[in-house]
Amino acid sequence: MDQNLIIVDHPLVQHKLTLMREKETPTALFRQLLREISQFLAYEVTRELPTRLKKIDTPLVPMDAPVMAGKKLALVSILRAGNGLLDGVLELIPSARVGFVGLYRDEKTLQPVEYYFKVPDGIEDRVVIAVDPMLATGNSSAAAIQRLKDAGARDIRFLCLLAAPEGVERMREAHPDVPIVTAAVDEKLNENGYIVPGLGDAGDRMFGTK
Ligand code: URA
Repeated sequence: MDQNLIIVDHPLVQHKLTLMREKETPTALFRQLLREISQFLAYEVTRELPTRLKKIDTPLVPMDAPVMAGKKLALVSILRAGNGLLDGVLELIPSARVGFVGLYRDEKTLQPVEYYFKVPDGIEDRVVIAVDPMLATGNSSAAAIQRLKDAGARDIRFLCLLAAPEGVERMREAHPDVPIVTAAVDEKLNENGYIVPGLGDAGDRMFGTK
């Protein structure tokens, strides 16, 4: 693995992830845990963002105190499961603008086809955090990132809950400039493209479908 892959191995994250993996975990708890973990991941993905000093007055003295500086942020949810990460990240970064990318896989060509794309103005000047819980084959994530680049985004990070080695590899090939932050890299993909041991279909589990 490489330095552009950050695995958030904090005990609280790992504990919550274990609860999410368990098949008996109900939908409401699954969603709540995802929201909680998303904030730890957001904390890590924003670690390198610059700050500047601002003059403020505490009740005791004036001081130069750090505030966020530099480029504005855009969060981009890769539909539909990305929405499960979005709210938690937005709670931490409430002023971020939000975009959405929707892709599905054409059954004949196996190529990703776009059905929705809307990103904030000035995407080329923003730090973009693309969110999708499961980096499995990496095909749709890589396509979504490419679409963001085509729209002008230049500074992109990818935040996911779980990754497969195959997905990390695919992203590395296609977008070596995009750092990946995840809670774990699991063993493998199975023949149906599911991450093993994984947690099943993240979208179904968070929205109670199926
Ligand atoms: N998408 C999911 O929701 N789960 C997987 O295991 C792989 C892709």
